[in-house]
Amino acid sequence: MLEEKLKSLVRDVPNFPQPGIVFKDITPILQHADVCSEVVIEFAERIKHLEFDVIAGIESRGFLFGLMLANHLNKPFVPIRKQGKLPHKTVSESYKLEYGQATIEIHEDAIAPGARVLIHDDLLATGGTVVAASKLIEKVGGEVAGFCFLINLAFLQASGRLDRFSTNVVSLLSYH
Ligand code: PRP
Ligand code: ADE
Repeated sequence: MLEEKLKSLVRDVPNFPQPGIVFKDITPILQHADVCSEVVIEFAERIKHLEFDVIAGIESRGFLFGLMLANHLNKPFVPIRKQGKLPHKTVSESYKLEYGQATIEIHEDAIAPGARVLIHDDLLATGGTVVAASKLIEKVGGEVAGFCFLINLAFLQASGRLDRFSTNVVSLLSYH
């Protein structure tokens, strides 16, 4: 079963990037092309009832499966990047995450007016990152159609923070 395979591949790294955080390292999954393909197919199956025009992925780990999935579905991919990386005119949001603070940006013309956007990231922890990403999507005229994550740290109970943007939340692996 995919969930078990993923669970066995995700590596816990205690005290990274700071004391008290157990970091979920997804890089071992990337060593297995067959598992990566299964992940994409599983995401596609789990989101097939959603209507959306574009997938937005969040730097950097949200680029990995976000682009693979967009490509598989023949949909456009929009990168949401950390501050100062996108070259054209941008819109920004600052936020707190499980282990710090950051600012993310999107190109102001990346989303067509009214486009429905599926937001992808590798992992949902406190939700700070995807809440900021959702605000960016709305600021540039899009609508959040849903979220998909490889991992939900469910014990942090962040999914309620996403309700005001969309209640469509898919995650392949949850830790309770
Ligand atoms: C990690 C992860 C999510 C975010 C989740 O990204 O990839 O984007 O934290 O945390 P939150 O739900 O508490 O906001 P990070 O900022 O470490 O960047 P990276 O993907 O470049 O490693
Ligand atoms: N992003 C936020 N919290 C994280 C964690 N515990 N492991 C990996 N990425 C994260």
